[in-house]
Amino acid sequence: MQRQSSPVSGRGNVAGHESLAAVAAVDLVKVYGAGDTAVRALDGVTVGFERGRFTAIMGPSGSGKSTLMHCLAGLDTATSGQVLLGGTDLTTQPDKVLTKARRERIGFVFQSFNLLPQLTAAANITLPLDLAGRKPDREFQDRLITTLGLSGRLNHLPAELSGGQQQRVALARALVSRPEVVFADEPTGNLDSRSGAEVLALLQNSARDLGQTIVMVTHDPGAAAYADRVVMLADGRLAGEIQNPDIASVTDALQNLAAGR
Ligand SMILES: Nc1ncnc2c1ncn2[C@@H]1O[C@H](COP(=O)(O)OP(=O)(O)OP(=O)(O)O)[C@@H](O)[C@H]1O
Ligand SMILES: [Mg+2]
Repeated sequence: MQRQSSPVSGRGNVAGHESLAAVAAVDLVKVYGAGDTAVRALDGVTVGFERGRFTAIMGPSGSGKSTLMHCLAGLDTATSGQVLLGGTDLTTQPDKVLTKARRERIGFVFQSFNLLPQLTAAANITLPLDLAGRKPDREFQDRLITTLGLSGRLNHLPAELSGGQQQRVALARALVSRPEVVFADEPTGNLDSRSGAEVLALLQNSARDLGQTIVMVTHDPGAAAYADRVVMLADGRLAGEIQNPDIASVTDALQNLAAGR
């Protein structure tokens, strides 16, 4: 009799498939705290994010969206499961390797910008490249700065910029090194609708024209409609996905989720 080599559960197949993605979670669990007060923020999430695509993560408040992104970006450690970045399992890497991956392979945009207050906009933008000792691609950098409407603001400190301008600097910083994945946690949450639309169009174009992989958390169906795909979370689990979303399909899915359908 021939020996069975494929795992019966099929989990090995899932991991094999997910490893083709730019970044993937495999059976990811994250528990905060212990005992009676323990919170299972992620309860076995398996999901892959394909290269060059723009994916939105949606779901009710507390469903684990930020936790998933922080674990995928190596900003937080999972309790169990795997995080595969370009096929490498980040969860088994020593801290030094993780820090290097975070610095050189990943871009992150936070809702609160996280710019360094003592550095000009220009210095904030090139910080990841400077830290990595890499030379910027000047043409790309100039194009980003022009597209983001920051050309006249490069010598300003963050405190001298509007919220929208600060967010655009944060976005330029995340994109300038063309990392394997850019994660953005509600990047338009603090912006007026015009600046928000500009930021979303830039994310969309980065994926379409430059093949940039982007994962964005948002509460806004209008923002999610810019993405190629929406992944829904509820109670720390996957709760469906939408390909080529539009505002109506996203709104429907969110209503169904809220109604427990
Ligand atoms: N550092 C922490 N310590 C303890 N519990 C936490 C911590 N961070 C998150 N949680 C809990 O984990 C769960 C998931 O939180 P998470 O921030 O991932 O949700 P979210 O989907 O991003 O929500 P929101 O839409 O409000 O930003 C929540 O119940 C939250 O209270
Ligand atoms: Mg969150």
